[in-house]
Amino acid sequence: MSRVVVRGTGLFTPEGGVTNDELVESLTTATLHWNEANAGAIARGELAARDLPSAKFIVRASGVGHRYVIDKQGVLDPTRLRPRIRRRGEEELSLQAEICLSAAREALAQAGRSGDEIDAIVVGCSNLQRPYPAIAIEVQAALGAGGFAFDMNVACSSATFALQNVVDALRGGHARRALVLNPELTSGHTNFELREFHFIFGDACTAIVLEREDEGDEPAVGEAWEILDTRLVTRFSNNIRNDAGFLNPCEEPARAPHELLFRQNGRQVATEVSPMVAEHLRKHLADAGIPIDRVRRLWLHQANLGMNRAIAKTLLGRDALPEEAPVILDEYANTSSAGSVIAFHRHRGGIDVGECAVLCSFGAGYSIGSVLLRKLRA
Ligand code: COA
Repeated sequence: MSRVVVRGTGLFTPEGGVTNDELVESLTTATLHWNEANAGAIARGELAARDLPSAKFIVRASGVGHRYVIDKQGVLDPTRLRPRIRRRGEEELSLQAEICLSAAREALAQAGRSGDEIDAIVVGCSNLQRPYPAIAIEVQAALGAGGFAFDMNVACSSATFALQNVVDALRGGHARRALVLNPELTSGHTNFELREFHFIFGDACTAIVLEREDEGDEPAVGEAWEILDTRLVTRFSNNIRNDAGFLNPCEEPARAPHELLFRQNGRQVATEVSPMVAEHLRKHLADAGIPIDRVRRLWLHQANLGMNRAIAKTLLGRDALPEEAPVILDEYANTSSAGSVIAFHRHRGGIDVGECAVLCSFGAGYSIGSVLLRKLRA
């Protein structure tokens, strides 16, 4: 019998840490300026004055206290409010490939593998900096990996959807060792001009090395997590949208640039998605014959602290202890598909061999992905 195991994880974190206070200060300056510049239209009732942001609101509503961004200066400049990214030549490594390599190298070192031992790479993330050539193929070349590589996008669920693809490829004998990479440069899609959205996201990139172990193989030395099962589900919703796409320049009438950034009806998302996720996980665990009291950890998608607490409480029938449902969104904010993987990367200590855990993402689409894991070797 073959099994698929996780052998290592890696994380790239940008240097630019931004607190809520810094973000609020910059948006307050920009908002006061915007209201002043548009005072005439506001007085005539043609435009609504913009309300000022509040750091207190951010923590209370989301649990986010801080985030990392690829360019702190550009994001905090009240006259710019977006990262400044140097345009690179075609012979240079792209930014997303660069952060993938950083995370991949850590994951490979943990797995005790080199790039040329990898024969499948899937890059899954909410925003790709270009349609092609695939970022994954660029990474494949830089690592000297073989086999195949491709990019995919299922928004915040891109990591778990990529994992299921890779698990299927490994189980099906199409690859032997794989990398799943999640280069989330969310500061490029964040609307830093509006208080509803400016605090939500942060940048990061995660990497996971997976391998197939066949019966009779000498097991590789080091930590290993067996993937017991994966499950994906989608249900259409307009509550989270990003309309940036290649047809934008062709559209008539043209859209304003801010209409091509991330937007959501956050309250409705939280209300609709939390029970869907709890039920999805309850059913996935039940079908796999794993009672909830055997689950030692829930590495949940990191968008909103209240949502995660509600999901864990529904599943456990009580409040989760902090170590049972680790939180990283306080420091990283919502890093889209990377969030649950960062929680797994950072908080998988203290679990014994044989014990089970769950990795779960959810977001736009709607989409939900869950991965059931069992610690195989320490
Ligand atoms: N500072 C101060 N006030 C703010 C604010 C800010 N930064 N942002 C919004 N507000 C105001 C709103 O304008 C609203 O004012 P009103 O009552 O006068 O209309 C009020 O605060 C409540 O806004 P609301 O959007 O209902 O807050 P919320 O409690 O739902 O929190 C989110 C907003 C986004 C934090 C929360 O809904 C959320 O995280 N949802 C889940 C998102 C998610 O999981 N997405 C999927 C992954 S991307």
